[in-house]
Amino acid sequence: MALSSVELQPRIGSQVMISRDELLSGEYAQEIRALLVQRGVLVIRGIDLDDDQQRRFARTMGDLRLGSVKKEGEEGLMKVTLDKKENPEYAQFFFGSQLWHMDGTYEECPPFATMLTPRVLANEGGDTEFTNNYATYEDLAEEEKTRLDTLQVVHTMQAALFPAKRDCTPEEFALWCAYPVRKHPLVWHHKSGRKSLVLSTSASYVVGMHPAESHDLLTRLMNHATAPKYVYRHKWRMGDLLMWDNTGTMHRVLPFDEASGRRLHRFTLNGEEQITATV
Ligand SMILES: [Fe+2]
Repeated sequence: MALSSVELQPRIGSQVMISRDELLSGEYAQEIRALLVQRGVLVIRGIDLDDDQQRRFARTMGDLRLGSVKKEGEEGLMKVTLDKKENPEYAQFFFGSQLWHMDGTYEECPPFATMLTPRVLANEGGDTEFTNNYATYEDLAEEEKTRLDTLQVVHTMQAALFPAKRDCTPEEFALWCAYPVRKHPLVWHHKSGRKSLVLSTSASYVVGMHPAESHDLLTRLMNHATAPKYVYRHKWRMGDLLMWDNTGTMHRVLPFDEASGRRLHRFTLNGEEQITATV
């Protein structure tokens, strides 16, 4: 039986209609994975999963990232919040989520996918936006695709976080600088044969290019990739389950009141392939 879904935007995002029992059975996991990679973002409204159910579903979809391995929350749970009482270790980094990014570009193999459910929502703001890095590559002129295919970009944590906190302390800046520096191709040639742009606020500079030219190129590509026609904006409702393919999208959260206690629960699947260029 085929999954029932409707497109949310022509270039990104689908809403999936499925019951909780069907979702947790794992019977549809491969079909959901295929749709996720094709559409970038999937939304299920009113499914209302608790943490255990969300974890069980994540495990049907891939290799769950566990706290003991990656220092995340207990059994893979990460509380996405700015409230340091709820997440003493990582709340200090989530302000960076307000700029367009891929997760884990400082890793050799960025996470494959992430699942989010809201637990506390802000009265205003806090929508999450996604853009499709496959579509934004596909729409470039052929000549430009050929040129970008050969480029490498250095990604750093300070590039990702400093624009979101220009008044940081020297200690904060030093902490960000302690994260690994990664060089990734600008164009990811996936095992599937499809290609996507590897863009993120973490993209610091293009290797071997004059700094001014590199800055202009990355800025222009970021503007192209975040044009409204590539973007799905999610207005959260309690009971939602949202998942995104981190290898082919970027995301950001829109500003909200920190005192709202906004908190979403996240489970992440480990990456399955390194970012590689055309061979
Ligand atoms: Fe993120």
